[in-house]
Amino acid sequence: MVTLIKNGTMFTGSDTVDADILVKDGKISLIGSDLKVEPSQIIDASGKYVLPGAIDVHTHLDMPFAGTVTSDDFYTGTLAAAAGGTTCVIDFCIQRKGQSLRKALEEWHAKAEGKAVIDYAFHVAISDVNEGILAEMPHLIKEEGVSSFKCFMAYKNALMVDDEKLFRVLLQAKESGALVGVHAENGDVIDFLARKMVADGKTDPIYHALSRPAECESEATGRAISLARMAQAPLYIFHLSARQALERVREARREGLPVYAETCPHYLFLTEDLLKEPDFEGAKYVMSPPLRSKDHQEPLWHALITGDLQVVATDHGAFNFKGQKNMGRGDFTKIPNGVPGIQERLLLIYNGGVLARGMTLNRMVELLATNPAKLFGLYPRKGTLSIGSDADIVILDPNGQSKFSAPLLKANVDYTAYEGLVLRGKVDTVLSRGVVVVKGDDFVGQAGKGRYIKRGPPIFI
Ligand code: URP
Ligand code: ZN
Repeated sequence: MVTLIKNGTMFTGSDTVDADILVKDGKISLIGSDLKVEPSQIIDASGKYVLPGAIDVHTHLDMPFAGTVTSDDFYTGTLAAAAGGTTCVIDFCIQRKGQSLRKALEEWHAKAEGKAVIDYAFHVAISDVNEGILAEMPHLIKEEGVSSFKCFMAYKNALMVDDEKLFRVLLQAKESGALVGVHAENGDVIDFLARKMVADGKTDPIYHALSRPAECESEATGRAISLARMAQAPLYIFHLSARQALERVREARREGLPVYAETCPHYLFLTEDLLKEPDFEGAKYVMSPPLRSKDHQEPLWHALITGDLQVVATDHGAFNFKGQKNMGRGDFTKIPNGVPGIQERLLLIYNGGVLARGMTLNRMVELLATNPAKLFGLYPRKGTLSIGSDADIVILDPNGQSKFSAPLLKANVDYTAYEGLVLRGKVDTVLSRGVVVVKGDDFVGQAGKGRYIKRGPPIFI
């Protein structure tokens, strides 16, 4: 199949060009005007923006958590991703205590195999650090295409690792050319505060946020940066939510350290007041780090525009309100942590960043596609529009309109945090390796067509 995308305006992380794109065998084979070709299919992108497919480096599909499992698996989750203009996800393969990294990876491959509709890769989250596990890391990096690892500094008694363990993972990653990312919250303090609140009868969802103050995030972010500095290793901060934590990242970057951070749309659009919604509805907004007050939002937007934050990812962790979130009635510590958002990201950043705050479309592409591809070893195969790149392409109609409402969105979850929100722009067409998977409101792709992508080393930006 040879496809010609005609008459659109193409945006990469650096350039804006009126150009046509020829797609052959799943790759971009030509970019130019008046291309003398005979395609089997023409897509007219007149008046539309042609962008590299977005990459979501933070998803939790089919993930066991707090006695339940996220409601999106690799079929529904990647379908929703595609519908929102995302053409590649990097999901978290989570090592269970006592499990080898290889076994954990096998488990995650089995979850995705035959289900994913777009390409995917895995970070490995290490919960059990010992000599054997550290010795496995080079194999994963070199043979399995896993060039990033995650350590949790929170979730005591489940996933949390202590400073020595994090330090040793950083040293090993540095030696083997991988990137370590952290969930930066002080798990010891949170565990104490949460237990105390429940004991004091403070059990409503809002106490989830109050038990995880911004200082817990800032402290852990600063500590992770110090450990990375001592290990001389690069560091990535997942889901940064608080302006104090952003300050830690900014200071590190001013020092010239290879420290990177993402934020997520929910921290840019939603506030902690939502956790006070009546009838336990606040549980829909329970995630970690928690939503913050409004005064954290403009510093985050500013950092996205100026470069102190490099990535926007979703942290898509979908749990139904009925049957899952309500497991925590009477005890907020039992509410599964996470919020859906895998489909909503691109249009939220387009509206909140480009239309409302003057972010360039090129910067939006950097945040959603190019920087994630570089930091996580997918570039230039993905994250840009260049000859030889995978034809993962999104056509965005700036004159369209979209409404977010749970029944209209594709994720397998009974709510959206953005119910009723009407936004400018519409994801018009999505191609995954040259094959149209989304056309208007219709998903026209197929389960199992997504491939596992072995990633290369990070490119430090
Ligand atoms: O609340 C969240 N973020 N849940 C998913 C697990 C994690 O912390 O990333
Ligand atoms: Zn997460």
